[in-house]
Amino acid sequence: MIESITLTVNGDSRETGVPSHYTLLETLRYVLGYTGPKQGCDKGDCGACTVLLDGVPTLSCILPVQEAAGREVTTIEGLAGPEGAHPLQDAFDLTGGAQCGFCTPGILTSAAALLAENDDPTLDEIQAALSGNLCRCTGYTKIYEAVELAARALRSGKRPSEVVEP
Ligand code: FES
Ligand code: FES
Repeated sequence: MIESITLTVNGDSRETGVPSHYTLLETLRYVLGYTGPKQGCDKGDCGACTVLLDGVPTLSCILPVQEAAGREVTTIEGLAGPEGAHPLQDAFDLTGGAQCGFCTPGILTSAAALLAENDDPTLDEIQAALSGNLCRCTGYTKIYEAVELAARALRSGKRPSEVVEP
């Protein structure tokens, strides 16, 4: 059955017809064309599909799309602001925090929620915030460095390239 649903994604309100059994991830990727959130395990284990729902990291692969109606959905496509890339995006670029990149949209999204609440997280807090996001490539060290760099940039009001340590 196709049902009509209105979703607000990255600030845009979109009304569309969606198969009623679809998850938020399926709707984003296959109906609305937001391919940033990745379909990894598709069962809530890997974090590749993470989006923000009213600012809270949420696994979109296990969320029935109806539960996102009337709420603010933010995908990786919406992370950059009018001034350009989110500091996390620049920081991942500078530190080599992304390799194959499959996990990166979910990790950036989870990290953005952390930094929105806490711009001076400890390593333990960063690890806890990213504990639901699996990465098979990086060994995590560069990811944690990138989040620390982005936090430093946010605190100083500068771009990551201006506060990166040699
Ligand atoms: S694709 Fe959603 S948790 Fe893996
Ligand atoms: S960069 Fe490849 S899975 Fe994380």
